[in-house]
Amino acid sequence: MQVSTVPTVVVVPLRVIVVGAQGHARVCLEALTDEATIQVVGAVSRDGVGAPDLGTPTLGLDVDIAAIALAHRVEKVFVAIGINETRRSAIHRCAELGLGHAIARSRFAMVSHTTLLGAGTAILAGATVNAAATIGRGVIVNTNAAIDHDCVVDDFAHIAPGAIVAGGVTIGEGTLVGIGARVLPNLSIGAWATVGAGAVVTRDVPEGATVVGIPARILER
Ligand SMILES: CC(C)(COP(=O)(O)OP(=O)(O)OC[C@H]1O[C@@H](n2cnc3c(N)ncnc32)[C@H](O)[C@@H]1OP(=O)(O)O)[C@@H](O)C(=O)NCCC(=O)NCCS
Repeated sequence: MQVSTVPTVVVVPLRVIVVGAQGHARVCLEALTDEATIQVVGAVSRDGVGAPDLGTPTLGLDVDIAAIALAHRVEKVFVAIGINETRRSAIHRCAELGLGHAIARSRFAMVSHTTLLGAGTAILAGATVNAAATIGRGVIVNTNAAIDHDCVVDDFAHIAPGAIVAGGVTIGEGTLVGIGARVLPNLSIGAWATVGAGAVVTRDVPEGATVVGIPARILER
């Protein structure tokens, strides 16, 4: 008998609990389980109930995450909450409890090997993140969104489905770039701003502003 000298490599999957159990969580779950190195153990939510066909058991209330993680031998979570401010709070709270944050990356996403991805970020199906882009923590790069070269997307931002961000753009913390919006090159969008669905951003956007239309203009309340 010939004895192989090739060592056997056993990959022990990372056990992860998803925080959030609604539609966005369902999408993130599929992306998480695309990684052979991740095993989703279940989800927690505000009311302890999950969406139908969530695809993973609901383990209890999100406020009990520390005890639930301990009981299930889990060291990392993935916060799958679409609202940026709520996601930010949940990520901070889990971090304070000593829990780490996994990355959810769909196998159908294209992410340059020169991109930096922060913990807790979701890169969903059809998304493209090009060379030398920097994506912060807890960011959502949603279905078919594109972030071109050298962009910087700060923590807890959300680039919604089909949005296109050209090269060299800076997007501030917590900002939403709405569905199908376009952002021209080298612009800067301030923190906690909102770019309305379908807008074309041709100038810098101040912090906290909401802009809509083509070309995008500040929505006066
Ligand atoms: C821009 C946005 C935040 C405004 O929401 P809002 O504060 O509730 O504003 P309203 O719906 O009251 O609309 C206010 C005015 O702006 C207009 N408006 C709203 N959204 C617009 C948009 N995307 N483009 C152009 N005009 C828009 C409305 O028609 C309305 O105009 P009127 O006063 O002349 O009737 C919202 O419409 C939007 O586009 N959100 C993005 C949603 C998204 O992409 N989510 C991601 C999910 S994955």
